Amino acid sequence: MSTISEAITKDHRELEQYYNEIVNSADVDHQQRFGNQFTWELARHSVAEELIVYPAFEKYMGAEGKEKAEHDRAEHHKVKEHLKRFQNMSPKDANYVAELKSLMSILQHHIEEEEKDDIPALEKALSSGNDTGASEQMAKSFGRTKAFVPSRSHPSAGEHPPFETVMGLLTAPIDHIADIFRKFPDKTVSPNPSTK
Ligand SMILES: [Fe+2]
Ligand SMILES: [Fe+2]
Repeated sequence: MSTISEAITKDHRELEQYYNEIVNSADVDHQQRFGNQFTWELARHSVAEELIVYPAFEKYMGAEGKEKAEHDRAEHHKVKEHLKRFQNMSPKDANYVAELKSLMSILQHHIEEEEKDDIPALEKALSSGNDTGASEQMAKSFGRTKAFVPSRSHPSAGEHPPFETVMGLLTAPIDHIADIFRKFPDKTVSPNPSTK
């Protein structure tokens, strides 16, 4: 069973890998595939953090946690502004890689802060509480939110997935997303959106 740090770090490494696939390629088709993958993964990761991790900062880390959550949400907002532009672009566009690079410079800074500062502080707060396994439990919830949305638009996601486009997911109010999750039993690991 993984901890919340492990789950988050794994996502970060994947995002960096997809980024590298895009910027190190001159093949438009390859860039398009990994561009889509990057976009969905980043959207899923961001929503899962906003739903599970940042509220935990506030719950377990007092005023410091509240400050961290606000700071991280503001950084997500900046990244999403770039992602909105990037996901509408084609690798054939002259600014495609440049747009991705400016997104990544903000994201890389954000990832470093999360890994060096925010998440270790959360783990520390979790382990000092009475609730053993809280980090693993959080990792499970984190994984569940990610299972909720397809990794990309694909027919196998079902006819009526809750979010058919990445923008649908990114612009949905977080309260609305939280409501959808409340319709699943706590122990569900991979709800299939198409069978709800
Ligand atoms: Fe984040
Ligand atoms: Fe993150």
